[in-house]
Amino acid sequence: MNTEYLTKKTVVSFFVLVLFLSGQSFLLANEPDSAYIFVYGAAKNNHHNGLHVAWSLDKQTWHPVGTEHSFVKSDYGPWGAEKKMIDPFLFRAPDGIWHCVWSLNNEDGAFGYASSTDLLTWNRQSYPLVLSTGNCLKPMIAYDDTNDVYTISWTSDKEHNQAYFVTTKDFKHYSPAKKATVFLPRTEKVALPDGQQSGTLHKVAWHTVDNVIKAQQLAAYKTKLNSERMTDDDQRFSTLKDVKATINVNQNTTRQISDLLVGIFFEDINYAADGGLYAELIQNRGFEYSPNIRKEWDNLTAWNVYDAHSKLSIDTVSPIHINNKHYVTVEASAGGGLYNEGFGGIAVRANEKYNLSLFARAPEANIANLLIRLEDANGKTIGQATIKRLTKAWKKHELTVIPTVTAENAKLVIQLQEAGKVNLDMVSLFPQNTFRNRRNGLRADLAQAIADMKPRFVRFPGGCVAHGNGIENIYHWKHTIGPLETRKPQRNLWGYHQSYGLGYFEYFQFCEDLGAEPIPVVAAGVPCQNSAHNGHPLAGQQCGIPMEEMGDYVQDILDLIEYANGDVHTVWGKKRAEAGHPEPFNLKYIGVGNEDLITDIFEERFTMIYDAIKEKYPEIHVIGTAGPFYEGTDYVEGWKLATKLHVPYMDEHYYNPPGWYIHNQDFYDKYDRSKAKVYLGEYAAHIPGRASTIETALAEALHLCNIERNGDIVAMTSYAPLLAKIGNTQWNPDLIYFDNTEVKPTVGYYVQQLFGQHAGNAYIFSDLQLNNSDDNVRKRIGKSIVRDEVSGDIIMKLVNLLPVEVDVESNISELAVDSENIDATILSGTPADKDAKPIHATVNLDDFKLKPYSLTVIRFKEKT
Ligand code: AHR
Repeated sequence: MNTEYLTKKTVVSFFVLVLFLSGQSFLLANEPDSAYIFVYGAAKNNHHNGLHVAWSLDKQTWHPVGTEHSFVKSDYGPWGAEKKMIDPFLFRAPDGIWHCVWSLNNEDGAFGYASSTDLLTWNRQSYPLVLSTGNCLKPMIAYDDTNDVYTISWTSDKEHNQAYFVTTKDFKHYSPAKKATVFLPRTEKVALPDGQQSGTLHKVAWHTVDNVIKAQQLAAYKTKLNSERMTDDDQRFSTLKDVKATINVNQNTTRQISDLLVGIFFEDINYAADGGLYAELIQNRGFEYSPNIRKEWDNLTAWNVYDAHSKLSIDTVSPIHINNKHYVTVEASAGGGLYNEGFGGIAVRANEKYNLSLFARAPEANIANLLIRLEDANGKTIGQATIKRLTKAWKKHELTVIPTVTAENAKLVIQLQEAGKVNLDMVSLFPQNTFRNRRNGLRADLAQAIADMKPRFVRFPGGCVAHGNGIENIYHWKHTIGPLETRKPQRNLWGYHQSYGLGYFEYFQFCEDLGAEPIPVVAAGVPCQNSAHNGHPLAGQQCGIPMEEMGDYVQDILDLIEYANGDVHTVWGKKRAEAGHPEPFNLKYIGVGNEDLITDIFEERFTMIYDAIKEKYPEIHVIGTAGPFYEGTDYVEGWKLATKLHVPYMDEHYYNPPGWYIHNQDFYDKYDRSKAKVYLGEYAAHIPGRASTIETALAEALHLCNIERNGDIVAMTSYAPLLAKIGNTQWNPDLIYFDNTEVKPTVGYYVQQLFGQHAGNAYIFSDLQLNNSDDNVRKRIGKSIVRDEVSGDIIMKLVNLLPVEVDVESNISELAVDSENIDATILSGTPADKDAKPIHATVNLDDFKLKPYSLTVIRFKEKT
């Protein structure tokens, strides 16, 4: 072993153990009673670094706590452009509570507010809108103890530095803003090693300083652990060899675990729906693309004139349906027309049947026939059909086309047979060969890759897509059902178009086809916490559906449950039956909210929805939301609210580096079993460059082993995101990449697949002994042994995150009918490997070896 490394590591660990992890105060022999803190927000990193603290005994020599360490950050507006904390002002009230206000940007007439009892944990933030035209710069707090009133004053440079103030007793309700005659900044300037800063000065008990210092040190230590990478293993484990693990299985100590543990989260991100899982081959079939979504787009995107003489224009007069306003008018001579290029080409297979449909109208009744052809990249016709007798009114025409050859890059050409004018809309080319041969169904190969994971549930339609970028972008399920031409397309917040051809009916049907529980997610009456506010705070993340409209919104959610489960005589059950599914879909769970900012606005709306569902459908399990991280204000406040309301399930999200999964293996062992169960709705291991590699996949496998042990409290998990179309990806890594013809699963996919295919319903406890006492080694071996009561199999999953083989001895053979030549599946490679695939092998249960950097799944029949 590298002794220098060990020595450094031992010193750090000892330091950490003594100072932080014991949770005890480390008393100095000679510590002051009090000290000064200076609290400020540096402009560095465009004001994104939040609230900083420095301390001093004499107001002369200052010690910044950490380098750019943030004690609280602003959560206002979208990541990147906003979330700035400008000129924070901290005020300590007589009751000891710290109140902080700050300026959000140079535009908005709102300021940021948060409070804390200890400067370490901060309560939910609010951004009161106090001015409709001016901005709020350098906000400050003063307190009048005779009336127990706080005054917040600020200046607005949009109005020639006019000063304003509001008063409040509770930082929730504010008086209307009034103009003030003077604005006297009460901030101090302090010279710090990094330069002069402006902020507030406070005299505090020494233990406040001590706690602040320790909190920063602990945070820095955790960051260091979490950022451990396998690229450092050469050094970390340079002398490691002959690792031997002994696993003693205690078959009598078991824990019932959820049988829904591994599912999927489908979100329309990365062209996952249109151009992806939804098998439609025509892009912009309804002529509804718009520059409001992408500036280079218009209603004719993906469409082109077939010859130079043809003319295409977009009309809206008497459309097929008001939700599908635009259609194309083609004016051409005989043989002229237009073509669609699909989603980067149309891929068709020889001799397979394709349903071609379109709505057509010949306004002047002078066109008789349309010729429709599939043309390959060389302009050769590879399939065709004719539409005869166009009518003056809109009419839907349906045909079948059978390509004679396979082509990856075909286009669909529509030609007028005689000169004239025709209106066209909802032009569709759909393979008959869809997953389970559904009409308007899903791409068979992609859906099969998903089915091969054996997902126990499907969460849909988002993610951020569910709560939308601003109120007007919230996903409304009712816009996504019924005949395709009546669905109301929507801007996808990931920067493209949602036709909603894959809508709620198709989602429910897909779940049924997979044998998976449907878990729809509806917005909690608030949009995405990352919504842009376009200059008006009430239009962005801080808005909620106005309370006077919430009744209708809640009713929509109740209607969704009726659509899924109601009998055919109910209003919405009837619509499901009309769509071809009279039997209920058996909905049991519904997610309300998606990693929202937990604010008072959120709480009011979430509670309203939750109470309404509980009252009308007490059998439905509501899943609440705990923010986008595994810690922090939204996580804490989300859980507090869930505990208060007795919400039965909580959706957690985190995307962490591999080191986090290695160093937080007891994350769920600490969870209170009497509170809500966890649905880990989104997670993945992220490394710089955001690839899915053996390193990330094994970190995820390790986490899943720890989750199986906690399968009593963690009810469900889903990796995120699921799908990504190559060349149209907004987020990496994803589980399955694809193009128009190929499906390319990642290493992470195989981990999910192995855990999905080899799930169990009872966890069998065991202990692991190593011939090596280094904690770093111990933490890199994961195990989970489960019993699948349905098949009568025992499944052992072992993860080796070490660069060396591990020799395993175990008494597990006592459980097996036969302990030799047992089937094993092994996923292994080098840490950076992106192409590893599972291989099959046989092992002897008493004695086998784990490959370096591997996941091994062993399955065998249990002795009865
Ligand atoms: O999974 C991608 C995105 O990550 C989801 O839309 C959102 O919920 C999270 O921020």
